[in-house]
This record gives sequence, structure tokens and C-alpha cells, in this order.
Amino acid sequence: MKALRLLPEQVRTGSLILVNRDYDYAEPGRPQANCSGMERGSKHVRAEALSVLGGRSGAPVLLARRAAVLFAGLMDEIGGWSRIVPVSGYRTLAEQKDIWNSSLAEHGKDFTNAYVALPGHSEHQTGLALDLGLKKDEIDFLCPDFPDSGICRTFRERAPEYGFIHRYPSGKEKVTGINHEPWHFRYVGTPHGEIMEKEGLTLEEYVFFLRDFPHGRRPYLFAAGGRQIAVSWLAARREEVTWLSVDERLPHSVSGDNVNGFIITEWRDGYVA
Ligand code: DAL
Ligand code: ZN
Repeated sequence: MKALRLLPEQVRTGSLILVNRDYDYAEPGRPQANCSGMERGSKHVRAEALSVLGGRSGAPVLLARRAAVLFAGLMDEIGGWSRIVPVSGYRTLAEQKDIWNSSLAEHGKDFTNAYVALPGHSEHQTGLALDLGLKKDEIDFLCPDFPDSGICRTFRERAPEYGFIHRYPSGKEKVTGINHEPWHFRYVGTPHGEIMEKEGLTLEEYVFFLRDFPHGRRPYLFAAGGRQIAVSWLAARREEVTWLSVDERLPHSVSGDNVNGFIITEWRDGYVA
């Protein structure tokens, strides 16, 4: 076994961070108000590397590198490139402010609250969120058409296998705080997309659901690709290093939840039918 050293600010990074009206996004490179590192200079969240996805000319759409690779894999698999267009991906805080202000001016407060996250609270700032539209001459930037039919339905159905979730489903508006947005996808990684789909959970619900599966005691078990995968949660120690014990011979990943803990994913040995 190996002990991994997790710093308090790591709670704010990773593909499973919950960013919504209650939990803001920690902009990379800025000192964090609600996380204090053990060492001087360790309080800064690191920036995600971004890749260009394409998009309309003059407006490249950027996505976190790993999410971009998985998105391309899914688009190749379903033949999506000629019919689905990336409309909006990574946004800076300044861009989210501009979008918020222009939506407010053009559509008013109710619409803006329903469809635009407050600056500082948008998952687009993480580089893990992507708005998609059906390819056509005119594409609405805020609410692109992404119907529940044809290639768009195929994308939505296959997305969880590639680690993407339909983030703001209908019927969960009170949980997410955002209206139904058929066009907005969020990368959470594998196998989390499939688990959330199977359990019928939004990211808000999943992050708290995992607290019932404490690391080292009772993980959530899921079989995918012939492997058994254990998902568990570990509380972060406030203002201190949290030590995580993992089997270093097996693949594992750790993400912060952006609340107060870490989500640990461990791929176990041996084939599972
Ligand atoms: N449209 C989503 C909620 C955003 O602005 O982040
Ligand atoms: Zn979006």
C-alpha cells in the first residue's frame, strides 16, 4: 500500500468537483479563501490544460484535455462531427460575467437565473462543461437546439460511457438550480457517468450519495470493461494534509468534490463478467 498526501486545496480540483450556486469555482492561480494549505505557496489551485475542440470560426471552443479526448472518441464512434457543433466550452470568469450581463440586459432576471450560472459559479469556468448544438445556419449561443432525437439523442445515450453527463435534466431543476438544458454536458470521468445514469443522480446528489461509501470501509462497487471498480469518499482534514492509502499496483484516481472531501476511484484486479 502507498500513502498519498492530499493537500486541502485539492478538494477544489478534479473531474468530479461540484460547481453550482452553493459551491463556487476556485479560479486557478488565485489564493483560496476557504482552503488553507500546509505550506506557503501551496494554496493555489492549478490550471487544467485545455484543448481546442473546434467550433465556429473565430470562436474556438476549449475543453480540459482529458475531457476533449473522450469527447472526440464519442464523436468518432457515433459519426457526430458533421451534425453536432461545440458551441461553448471553457469560459473565463470575465466571459461568464459578460454572458450574465448581456443575458440580463436582453432576457431579464428570471431567464438569466434559470439558464446562466452566476459568475464564479459556472462549471464552464472549470473547462469540464460543454454546450452542444445541432448543426444549422443559426445557432442560439445560450440555448442551442439539441433535440431528444436522431444524432443528439444518440450522443446523450452514449455520453455516460465516455464520462459525460447530461447535467441539467428536466425534473431536477430544484436540485441543480438550473432549468432543463438539453445542450449542456459535463465531464465527470469514467465510470462516474455510468454510475450516475444507473442511480438516476445529478452531480449534486452523487457527491453526497458517495458519503455513504467511506474509503477503506465500504466502497461503492461497479463493474465496467470487465473490471471491478471501487468508488469511495474520504473526508478532507481541515487545514491539514489528508493521507490516503491506496494499492499502488492498481490504477486509481482522486478528485476533490469541491465541498469537503475526496472521491477515490480504484480499478481492481481480476476479470468481472
Ligand atoms: N448555462 C450554465 C448553467 C452556465 O452558465 O454555466
Ligand atoms: Zn452550458
